Amino acid sequence: MKILVINGPNLNMLGLREPDIYGKKTYKDLCEFIKSSCDELSLECELYQSNHEGAIVDKIQQSYGVFDGLVINPGAYTHTSIAILDAIKAVSIPTVEVHISDVDSRESFRQISYVSYVAKERYIGLGFEGYKKALAFLKEYVG
Ligand code: DQA
Repeated sequence: MKILVINGPNLNMLGLREPDIYGKKTYKDLCEFIKSSCDELSLECELYQSNHEGAIVDKIQQSYGVFDGLVINPGAYTHTSIAILDAIKAVSIPTVEVHISDVDSRESFRQISYVSYVAKERYIGLGFEGYKKALAFLKEYVG
């Protein structure tokens, strides 16, 4: 089973950005955590990070027929991007939404999530662990 893991804008700045909210571990640490989680779950995975909405839309479109599941943390695009929502709807790949921080207990603008309209499940506020739970969910869901 092949899973694509997409991280959106500023997630490449983990470790440096607002460590009181996102922790001190880096994006490289996150990639290593995701890769070892995939090994444990016997999943094949590809990691993709971009700061650009259109690049994320392109990547989702290119996933059609290639990946069986999608784990996405769209960063701030969570709260603004109908284009990312529409791209996921277009390819119909089972998708799980992840956020490192607990977006629902932060500013009100973070409590809107377009991706949640299509996500099969959401893991929020669990740090890196949310990605592992998302991968395990997809393994079970896609079967
Ligand atoms: C985030 C939460 C978003 O509100 C924020 O814009 C991010 C990261 C998270 O993982 O907690 O960039 O998606």
